[in-house]
Amino acid sequence: MAATKTVRTKDRSIVFENHLDSTFEYWRRFGGVPPLKGKRVLDFGCGTGGMVQRLIDNGAAEVVGVDISEYAVAYGAERLAPYGDRVKMYAADIRTLDVGSFDVIVSQNTLEHVMPLGEVTRAVADRAKPGADMYFGFSPLWYSPFGHHGYPITRLPWHHLIFGDKAVLDAMEATSGKRYADAFDAGFNKATPDDFEAMFKTLPADIVSLRRNIVTGGWKQTVASIFGPIADLPPFRKYMTVSMYAHLRKR
Ligand SMILES: C[S@@+](CC[C@H](N)C(=O)[O-])C[C@H]1O[C@@H](n2cnc3c(N)ncnc32)[C@H](O)[C@@H]1O
Repeated sequence: MAATKTVRTKDRSIVFENHLDSTFEYWRRFGGVPPLKGKRVLDFGCGTGGMVQRLIDNGAAEVVGVDISEYAVAYGAERLAPYGDRVKMYAADIRTLDVGSFDVIVSQNTLEHVMPLGEVTRAVADRAKPGADMYFGFSPLWYSPFGHHGYPITRLPWHHLIFGDKAVLDAMEATSGKRYADAFDAGFNKATPDDFEAMFKTLPADIVSLRRNIVTGGWKQTVASIFGPIADLPPFRKYMTVSMYAHLRKR
C-alpha cells in the first residue's frame, strides 16, 4: 500500500482486516494462490494473522504463524482460536524455535524488517522440506520513495532520505510514544534490492522467480510502465525498487 494512504492505527482488529484484504494482492503478484490442500504452511512474520486465516481458508491442513511481536501474535492467537489445532501462533525467534518442517513457506511485508537478514532467512529456509515452495513478497524497501512506511505520512517521495532518520524517529515517537535510537532500532534493516538478491542466492533453494516492482493494474501500473525501465538501471535501482517478490524452491 502506498505510504500516502497509510492510516496509523493500534487497533489490531483493523490491522487484521487490512491484512486479510491485502492477501489477495499478495497472491495476485505471485500469479495466484498455490495449491495448499493438505499442506503444512509457515507464515513467517505473521503479525496479527490475516494471512494465516487466508491460508487455512484456502485449504491448508495446518498453518503456523511466527512473529517476534508478542502484541500482534497474542491478538492472532485469540482471533484464530476457532480453527483449533489447525492454527498455531508463536511469538518467537525462528532461529531457536522447534516447529518442524513445512510444505510451503509464506512471508508478507516482513523481510525489509528482519535482522540479521541472512541468518534469519537461512533459519526460515532450513524449515522448508525438500521441494517446498517459499514465497517472500515485501515492500516498501527502505531506499524507495516511501520506504519510511508512512513515518511521517507525507506525499514527498524520499522524505526520510532528504530529512534523515530523525524525521522518521520523530514521527514514530509522535505515534507510539516510543523513542528509537536509530532506524535499525526502529525495525528497518535498510537492505537494498542487491542485498536481498545476494541473500536469496545464499539460501539452499532454487530461485523460481525474482521480480521487482510488481503491480497489477490501476494508476500504479501506469507509473510502473513509465518508470520501470529507469528503475532497472543500476544507479536508480536502489532508490526505485519499492517491492520484491521472490518465489524459491528448497533443494
Ligand atoms: C509490516 S509487518 C507485516 C505483518 C504481516 N505479515 C502483514 O503483511 O500484515 C512486519 C512484521 O515482521 C515482524 N518481524 C520483524 N522481524 C522479525 C523476525 N526476525 N522474525 C519474525 N518476525 C519479524 C514484525 O514483528 C511485524 O509483525
